Amino acid sequence: MNISLEFNENNYTVREVCLEGKRIEYRAFENIVYVGNPVDTEHQRLSIFVPEQYYRDAKGKAPVKKPPVFLPNTVGGYMPGLPEEPGLDRSGKPNASFYAILNGYVVVSPGARGRGLRDENGVFTGTAPACIVDQKAAVRYLKYNRDRIPGDTERIISSGTSAGGALSALLGATGNHPDYEPYLEEIGAAKETDDVYAASCYCPITNLEHADMAYEWEFGGLSDYHWGDREGVMTEAQNMLSVMEKTLFPPYLNSLKLTGDSGEWLFLREDGNGSFKDYIVEYILQSAGREMGRGTDLTALNWLVIEDGQPTGMDWAAFIRYRTRMKTAPAFDDVFLSAPENELFGSPVTARRHFTPFSLKYTKASGEIAEEGQIKRMNPMNYIQDRAAKKAKYFRIRHGAADRDTSLAISAMLTAALRGRGVAVDYQLPWGVPHAGDYDPEELFDWIKRICQ
Ligand code: DHB
Repeated sequence: MNISLEFNENNYTVREVCLEGKRIEYRAFENIVYVGNPVDTEHQRLSIFVPEQYYRDAKGKAPVKKPPVFLPNTVGGYMPGLPEEPGLDRSGKPNASFYAILNGYVVVSPGARGRGLRDENGVFTGTAPACIVDQKAAVRYLKYNRDRIPGDTERIISSGTSAGGALSALLGATGNHPDYEPYLEEIGAAKETDDVYAASCYCPITNLEHADMAYEWEFGGLSDYHWGDREGVMTEAQNMLSVMEKTLFPPYLNSLKLTGDSGEWLFLREDGNGSFKDYIVEYILQSAGREMGRGTDLTALNWLVIEDGQPTGMDWAAFIRYRTRMKTAPAFDDVFLSAPENELFGSPVTARRHFTPFSLKYTKASGEIAEEGQIKRMNPMNYIQDRAAKKAKYFRIRHGAADRDTSLAISAMLTAALRGRGVAVDYQLPWGVPHAGDYDPEELFDWIKRICQ
């Protein structure tokens, strides 16, 4: 198969959507396969939505400044994603694409392969790094068509939630890195760059090979877990794994040599305390302060210290008990290979594999471990120091202070590492917010407006 990568500006339909009293009108260019040699034409396609107002402004008044491109991915759970239209999200609220059009941006919604996909021969086609390779290929398609599409391809802002937040972080941290080149070549991606201008990341489920130890650093000591209607108490074996994982986190964190907002070294002692923990506490206190500023009474929270109407400290252990544990240990690289991430790190012929030496050692499923390069390509932390990776200029990271899908340490490390390389990161742990995304479209588009001025 050899598919033309040229964008056809005449192939569109005009749509109108009215939600919550707000009306948008746009041209929808859909079902565009974005690679020349696709593996999966259902997922390797994208949609482009352009505000009709852009064409009205352009009529007879050339040249009109091209609007930035908002690039929301639809990946959840590291599963395959399909392009999505401006409209309602799963919770029945207008989605981020709707707000993007409302604010005059061009929206590009790429599909991507994900875990579990198989071709007609039963070969797994969506294992890592397929999902990030596809996102990059979509960016390359846009850049290849920079003169044909109405959006400004030097102002691409990617966005995603959870696994999608991780992909957005990868797009922002690994621009043009040669590690992905052979994969892009294989699927016939346009020969272009794939760096983006900015990345919006909601609760990124990332840094997977260190996420188990971070989880136990945070939730270790709590053995009752609450995951939807799956509730219980961890077994003796799981508690043992938790204790061991917890000891691995401080040496890993210290090896990153991160610095905080005043240039202080972020470290953890063997007991898990230290300036890195203080760094997270500070963001939680800021979050509590903002919530109190909105008029919420937080005095009933026994873990929060409030003095003169300001949150000034917290009891960490009580905060963790208040939040509760969701996943059993190990949270991501499951010793029975039953976590979504085990499937992400499968191979063309092996459905599920480990991705940490720890879980390989304690496997209960005779699991194999994924190749080092496959694991490396899925972690933005591996590219932040690497000069061959062009970083986005701006990141916006939001990780709900009530999230239990992954440790708050994961987004805190990503933030500190990016700031250490001069990236402007807008980081908050929004109060009371669980594992979720796109809950603050007004603030999101205010940020986009600011960074695109
Ligand atoms: C997602 C959530 C998880 O808890 C996880 O381990 C991986 C992905 C998600 O919602 O995308």
